[in-house]
Amino acid sequence: MQLASVTKSTTRFYTDVIRGLQSSHKHLDSKYFYDERGDELFQQIMNCDDYYLTNCEMEILRTQSDDIALTIGKLEKNFDVVELGAGDCTKSIHLLKSIFKTDKSFTFFPVDISKHVINIIEQDIPKKIDDLNVYGLNGEYIEMLQRSNEISSRRKLVLFMGSNIGNMNYTASIAFLKEVRNYLNKGDCLLIGFDLKKDPQIILNAYNDKQGITREFNLNLLRRINKELNADFVIENFKHFPVYNPESGECKSYLISTKKQRVFIGDTEFIDFDANETIDMEISAKYSIAQINELANLSGFKPVEYFYDSKQWFADVLWKCI
Ligand code: AVI
Repeated sequence: MQLASVTKSTTRFYTDVIRGLQSSHKHLDSKYFYDERGDELFQQIMNCDDYYLTNCEMEILRTQSDDIALTIGKLEKNFDVVELGAGDCTKSIHLLKSIFKTDKSFTFFPVDISKHVINIIEQDIPKKIDDLNVYGLNGEYIEMLQRSNEISSRRKLVLFMGSNIGNMNYTASIAFLKEVRNYLNKGDCLLIGFDLKKDPQIILNAYNDKQGITREFNLNLLRRINKELNADFVIENFKHFPVYNPESGECKSYLISTKKQRVFIGDTEFIDFDANETIDMEISAKYSIAQINELANLSGFKPVEYFYDSKQWFADVLWKCI
């Protein structure tokens, strides 16, 4: 590919893909799932029956947002809300409405890696909550959290929902939470969503849905690499294979090369695959309450309150910075 003609973000994408696939443990970063087609597929995943996470968290936000807002209000007043990985805001809108009932002056900073998603949020949210200040931030979580601090010096309530934390391994999640803590002040709050350990089959089904949407979601990243980085992955030569380890709580998605093959990326690079060789695509970690508390303690937060769905499959947990 002609690097002179590509944007900085494409160059980063290219470097990450080459580094990941040339490593002895072939892997791709799941943050790259979300191009326009990836966003569409993720919406479909969230609406499919097997993927229970969205319904569970939606139930929490739909039925307990007033309680959550009340609990936060007892801890802090006059805060802005920063949502990391805002997606379509269909869950957080309930909480925003509850907070807005008591404070009309806050700014909502939705942060998302997808420009497309931010554009939609900026158009949609003011139609749902009249006069709410919305300031969309398109980019990486930590950089955008820092940016929100430059824009406003008010206290912060950070939302990190949807079990997005589960897409990091244990070490990375602690490092990430410590970084979030670094950009917050004592007394600021974090509402963080965790998918809880449960019947392993229910978890596995969520990442191997009957309609095959999650399979398409994974394969779409190979399609994206073909399109944006001028590669020649033959999609049919890769198989979606999720596994769940009930002991560690790690659900992992792999793409398996079904044959020995060589894939070219751009004009100069190629990747050789053996038959049955794996590409590690994504981790979606599941937690016990003890593990959640440990994460809080290790990263400078104190758990304040746990909000569960009626099945107790999912928890949104309110932490405050200590
Ligand atoms: C965004 N994230 C929390 C989802 C998850 O459950 O790990 C992404 C996803 N991957 C496959 N299905 C959904």
